[in-house]
Amino acid sequence: MNGNTYALITGGSRGIGKATALRFAKEGWGVIITYKSKRDKAEETVKELLRLEIPLALSYKVDISDINDVIRLKNDLEKRIPYLNVLVNNAGIINSGTIDKIEVSEWKRIIEVNLTGAFIMTKFLLPLMIKAPWASIVNVASIAGQTGNVLASVAYASSKAGLIGFTKRLAVELASKGIRVNAVAPSFVETDLVKEFIDTYEKRKRIEELHPLKTILKPEDVAEAIMFLADPSRSRTITGHILSLNAGRYT
Ligand SMILES: NC(=O)c1ccc[n+]([C@@H]2O[C@H](COP(=O)([O-])OP(=O)(O)OC[C@H]3O[C@@H](n4cnc5c(N)ncnc54)[C@H](OP(=O)(O)O)[C@@H]3O)[C@@H](O)[C@H]2O)c1
Repeated sequence: MNGNTYALITGGSRGIGKATALRFAKEGWGVIITYKSKRDKAEETVKELLRLEIPLALSYKVDISDINDVIRLKNDLEKRIPYLNVLVNNAGIINSGTIDKIEVSEWKRIIEVNLTGAFIMTKFLLPLMIKAPWASIVNVASIAGQTGNVLASVAYASSKAGLIGFTKRLAVELASKGIRVNAVAPSFVETDLVKEFIDTYEKRKRIEELHPLKTILKPEDVAEAIMFLADPSRSRTITGHILSLNAGRYT
């Protein structure tokens, strides 16, 4: 790949998104990240990206569930890059607790960010992707969208199951434009998002024991899979696929 390849990663300031941004940067791609509120983390990530001497490293404060924020992003990007090759719909939030404890407002917020956010980002950035010589989308789903045996709530599980449906349908819809759409479905990944579940030796051991490979994923493991699905030289014929990254845990 050369410097004329651009990837945008939502939630690219921390965790899986940051590892993905750095992974693309290692291949020399121009990288755009978005974040919700932690500007210091985003600035730190951009500094790390620039150290890799890539042609472009930008960060935008964008709430992916806010249409106006996303339109502002799109308008600015249209002035800065000729097209967008890869969109990684990664930003997401989580909650836990049983249905009786979850407020309707909490349910709505999770769906709004994890599912509607991916829809809004894709809808408004698609015209910039259609201009590219090639393009692909990778959605970051979760094992929680595939099996019920998880610690996250029904809201989170539903948002991720929705994202899997979104991936499959969109892959068919965009195939005629040559745009591939895939998703990764990770189990536990060592990031801030799930630190409450693994913050003691006992909790961590319990989570590891749930996986036949007895391991918790690293953000870089997910970034590698996203790179594989995003890049046509690695996965030209793969679309509508949900790549499970679960250390052997299928239930
Ligand atoms: N960690 C896991 O075990 C795991 C497993 C399976 C799937 N996933 C999925 O992987 C994705 C990334 O998770 P992570 O663990 O890397 O999370 P993380 O470390 O908590 O990072 C979340 C990122 O998303 C951004 N974000 C949150 N809400 C947003 C919003 N409304 N609009 C725009 N950006 C927003 C955050 O921005 P700020 O820094 O400004 O807050 C941050 O950059 C999520 O979709 C998550 O559901 C994670």
